[in-house]
Amino acid sequence: MVSVFSLSKNALTALAFAVLAQGIAIPEGLDIAQGLDRRSPGFVSLDFNVVRKPLKVNSTVAHSKDGKRQYVPLSLIDEGGSYASQISVGSNKQPQTVVIDTGSSDLWVVDINAECHNNVTCKSHGTFDPKESLTWHSLGTQFSIEYGDQSTSEGTWGKDTVGFGGISITGQQFADVNSTSVAQGILGIGLDTLQASTTSYPNVPVTLKNQGIISKNAYSLYLNEPGSSTGTIIFGGVDHAKYYGNLIYEEVTLLTRLTIALMRIIYDGTTYDNSAGNVLLDSGTTLSYLSPDLVNQIANRAGAYWVQPLHGGGHYQIDCDANLPGDFVFNFALGAKISVPSSELIYKNDDGKCLFGLQPESGGEVLGDNFLRHAYLLYDLDDLTVGIAQVKYTSESNISAV
Ligand SMILES: *[C@@H]1O[C@H](CO)[C@@H](O)[C@H](O)[C@H]1NC(C)=O
Ligand SMILES: *[C@@H]1O[C@H](CO)[C@@H](O)[C@H](O)[C@H]1NC(C)=O
Ligand SMILES: *[C@@H]1O[C@H](CO)[C@@H](O)[C@H](O)[C@H]1NC(C)=O
Ligand SMILES: *[C@@H]1O[C@H](CO)[C@@H](O)[C@H](O)[C@H]1NC(C)=O
Repeated sequence: MVSVFSLSKNALTALAFAVLAQGIAIPEGLDIAQGLDRRSPGFVSLDFNVVRKPLKVNSTVAHSKDGKRQYVPLSLIDEGGSYASQISVGSNKQPQTVVIDTGSSDLWVVDINAECHNNVTCKSHGTFDPKESLTWHSLGTQFSIEYGDQSTSEGTWGKDTVGFGGISITGQQFADVNSTSVAQGILGIGLDTLQASTTSYPNVPVTLKNQGIISKNAYSLYLNEPGSSTGTIIFGGVDHAKYYGNLIYEEVTLLTRLTIALMRIIYDGTTYDNSAGNVLLDSGTTLSYLSPDLVNQIANRAGAYWVQPLHGGGHYQIDCDANLPGDFVFNFALGAKISVPSSELIYKNDDGKCLFGLQPESGGEVLGDNFLRHAYLLYDLDDLTVGIAQVKYTSESNISAV
């Protein structure tokens, strides 16, 4: 979902599901008393659970409340997936299950007395009671964010200890939210240009670097096989066992988002040109959204058909048993090539109908999970590059710090 890497909240999905990350234990972390004395290997690995809900086909409009906040334009479909991990906040390590979002940049958690709006059960994934933490320091300033799907959160900025994956960072700025229409807290790990704060501050990945836990604001993302319910994000590290060949480093083309340039897609012997269009890599967006020109051509070739609801909008559907030949090969500006099996272009929704995996979007192109899970990605926010290689699904690992 975008305000995206939605691991993206760009189109934040309302995640109404019960206990997400059960079974993910918070690894025994550093005690606060121990501080950062124990040396980190230079990376922090964080497993997440994939949370899915049916896609709601509809039209939404992206907007933000003030000029400072910039959101990735919205897809036409209310997205179905998100990634949730366990973190802890406060001196007494109050557990929270939060959505990891590359499409936004702020961390916020749900206050114990928060009001949940729009029928979300916002307090079922952990709450924060600042009074129970000896290290909470309120900044007294108001936090307010609106995501691409129009869900909102409001609360107060403060600082406290945040722990996950066996480490903890101190004095991290985040928001204690007392009113939200989002189903759970969010850990935004995007560029600081996306922060919902008038003054820029070190967000979680930057603090990891500032406090010496990682040496670069970079993280790699492994979404795992289609249908898998878990994946891994490694802050400051890369798992060489999980890709074929070499990572090819593509430049980030828009500074406010994590976009790279998609040159063309090759499918069934035909080359479809994308003119180096900027595509956002958004985990959290289920399908992919490309320029209408390109998508119309590919959809026609694949036998997908346009469905136009009465209220406007529209989307491509495809027969669920369509037999599409071969792979779609995505070619990027600096040479990265990722093959996506055509089965990924048939997305079976809960209503029994199938959505075509590429949908037209003129407001901002997004490569979502159906692309991303075939790539191993290293987002480098310091160098503004994204390393990409064809993913290798394996439980083996060979992680080194970047
Ligand atoms: C979804 O479509 C319905 C009409 O079918 C419309 O009333 C509603 O406002 C739409 N929701 C959004 C978020 O656009
Ligand atoms: C919340 O749930 C109630 C009862 O099911 C329903 O009437 C109401 O429309 C819902 N509100 C929203 C914002 O979805
Ligand atoms: C939330 O916090 C703000 C700022 O502290 C306050 O003005 C507001 O009344 C609070 N809202 C609720 C629902 O507690
Ligand atoms: C781990 O990855 C590094 C870097 O690619 C490589 O040099 C090394 O041989 C790998 N180790 C194993 C055991 O595969």
